[in-house]
Amino acid sequence: MDEALRALGDRLSAGHSLSLEEYGELIRRRDPEAAAYFGDLAVRWRKAVYGTAVFTRGLIEISNICKNDCLYCGIRRSNASCRRYRLTEAEILSCADEGYALGFRTVVLQGGEDPYFTDPVLCGIVGEIKRRHPDCAVTLSMGERSRESYGRLRDAGADRYLLRHETANPVHYGKLHPPEMSWDHRMRCLRDLRDLGYQVGCGFMVGSPYQTEEDLALELKFVEDFRPDMCGIGPFLPHRDTPFRDAAAGTLELTCYLLSLIRLIHPAVLLPATTALGTVHPLGREKGIQAGANVVMPNLSPVSVRKQYELYDNKICTGEESAQCRGCLDRRMRSIGYALTTDRGDPRPVNVKIRIKSAG
Ligand code: SAM
Ligand code: FES
Repeated sequence: MDEALRALGDRLSAGHSLSLEEYGELIRRRDPEAAAYFGDLAVRWRKAVYGTAVFTRGLIEISNICKNDCLYCGIRRSNASCRRYRLTEAEILSCADEGYALGFRTVVLQGGEDPYFTDPVLCGIVGEIKRRHPDCAVTLSMGERSRESYGRLRDAGADRYLLRHETANPVHYGKLHPPEMSWDHRMRCLRDLRDLGYQVGCGFMVGSPYQTEEDLALELKFVEDFRPDMCGIGPFLPHRDTPFRDAAAGTLELTCYLLSLIRLIHPAVLLPATTALGTVHPLGREKGIQAGANVVMPNLSPVSVRKQYELYDNKICTGEESAQCRGCLDRRMRSIGYALTTDRGDPRPVNVKIRIKSAG
């Protein structure tokens, strides 16, 4: 393989930082051999930190009502064809109870930016889940809120927050969002969440419209600098009722390559093999794990609403057959030598004694 690329990967694996230019080289000059080499190093790092355990989070999609109008998203407010729903508090709690019984020790409440979920409403739900299941972590993924709101939710018991930054390039952000949305504000939210003691997840779409190789280099530098607890990346997939309906989808290949590099940059990061990756390829989640991911997020939402939480076309796990995603994913993980855990799945500190030798 390209010796210069190998040397860059070995430097990452040894814990060195790279320049933006060097990250650009890793993206521009990638080839299947480099992908296999970095994938191998990434898996060895992941096994050194997390073994063959795959952490699970039970995902409850609590509402597809959204006041925002992100150009890529199927539940954007301008999409008049989207059939809207909101789960009741009783429905959310019953999904959480069911998840607990199935062995989940993290529930993720995700939704559009639905004004119904004020602080008192959301704090009540978080508090009740923690009261019923004190050993369960609660993750929120409810978009941008004020620092005060994040503080109240944290006080109510929320442990983690997922807020993808979507792109590390503010100019690119402007091409994916309407003018009233701001990259600076999104970044401020991430800093507030960290200050308040949340475990914080950021993330971006791979292959989103207008994304360049330089933008991807910026993403890698951002992960190196911000060192998130979690990083959710998945391919962009078009939705028929959005302005990006005809845009090309992101690829399995590039997503897996980036998963491997992110694992090398930050070996203890929690990296999900996303539903979008499972949608772009039937074995996408397995391939994500084999590239260095260590988290899956099976769907716990009532089957009756799953089809309506449609961020992109052809989303998997929405049919009647998918009522038990945990069992399905457990079989999939076992088929590649991994197993789902019943564990909160907190990030582990990297043991500084671990050294991964280069494969070459
Ligand atoms: N409202 C919350 C927020 O903004 O963080 C959570 C829900 S939002 C729909 C969850 C994520 O879905 C977004 O951060 C975005 O990265 C991803 N997403 C939206 N549309 C997508 C698409 N067309 N293809 C792939 N991912 C998409
Ligand atoms: Fe949902 Fe397989 S993970 S049906």
